[in-house]
Amino acid sequence: MGQAVTGNNIMDYDTVALSDSGDAVVIIDQTKLPGALELISLRTAREIWDAIYCLKVRGAPAIGVAAAYGIYVLARSMPRGSFEEFYQEFGKQKEYLDSARPTAVNLSWALNRMEQVCLANRICPVEEILEQLRREACRIQQEDIAVCRAIGEFGLTLVKPKDGILTHCNAGKLAASRYGTATAPIYLGQEMGYGFRVFADETRPLLQGARLTAYELKESGVDVTLICDNMSALVMKKGWVNAVFVGADRVAANGDVANKIGTSLLAAAARQYQVPFYVCAPTSTIDMATPTGEEIVIEERSGAEVTEQWYACPMAPEGVKVFNPAFDVTDHTLISGIVTEYGVIEAPYREGFEKIFAAKERGAQVSHCG
Ligand code: MRU
Repeated sequence: MGQAVTGNNIMDYDTVALSDSGDAVVIIDQTKLPGALELISLRTAREIWDAIYCLKVRGAPAIGVAAAYGIYVLARSMPRGSFEEFYQEFGKQKEYLDSARPTAVNLSWALNRMEQVCLANRICPVEEILEQLRREACRIQQEDIAVCRAIGEFGLTLVKPKDGILTHCNAGKLAASRYGTATAPIYLGQEMGYGFRVFADETRPLLQGARLTAYELKESGVDVTLICDNMSALVMKKGWVNAVFVGADRVAANGDVANKIGTSLLAAAARQYQVPFYVCAPTSTIDMATPTGEEIVIEERSGAEVTEQWYACPMAPEGVKVFNPAFDVTDHTLISGIVTEYGVIEAPYREGFEKIFAAKERGAQVSHCG
């Protein structure tokens, strides 16, 4: 049962947090927004898996943070007899959480980081491993805050005051920590009085744009206009959009980008109307082990999301065939630049990514422009 916190501002709450006693992952239940602001506590593997699968917590970085806290919470009640016993159960639960959604790489990325902590501390008592796991999960979240801010700073160099910005799905505070990714330049610009006009795509079928992006931007005082997905070409043609900013669930080594279904259509329209199309993605979303978008597994979800969810009664003939892929892949040739915490990468992407990963390896701090 969720704890209703209605009357308060969404900005006052973390999208994902660890409970004070460390025994639960506390999330904003995004399926209830914008009608109700409810916090729910997840304690069991099934509850955490369901919350990710059912999109109570969603958005690539937020899923990663939830999984990191989730595996820590589960690890607290794993067998402590020997490291082997503990690690065997850890591996089982890690695999289970990882199976909740296939496309966003941040899920396995965060779980792998947590596993590395176990292995690096294998000679320590389980109590000590648990403490290290808690710290690593907190670090993943803290890093995400800094990373989103840096993405915002770099993104802001690509636009000017009063610009029109179009975004798709929700790559905001609800999908990542604090500033979000695609919304980071918008929030930073808002703090600096840039006066952006933002268009938020409704984002069929699950309405992340209408329910979440329009909601969080409006709550923050941003000038946001909601449009249906099929209106974006029109607003571009009218010259109301100076840049498109979207997030990413997985970026392949060649710069192809998997993001919410409809993103590639938007990129094609942006090319047609000569609007720059930027992807905002932390390096944790760049997957060098996936050579091109062809190899990215695209999640398919229930047809009921298209035919009946949100409607008082079904809006399609009973039994009609439905194709409901949750993501699509935007070809790198349609992307003007990928905004990361280390700067804006332009084609050729593989070379650009290799450079920033080498810098990261050398311990380079997340950059700040200016
Ligand atoms: O199915 P969702 O709502 O998890 O899809 C989310 C997206 O596609 C976001 O754009 C992406 O995860 C980037 S979030 C910073």
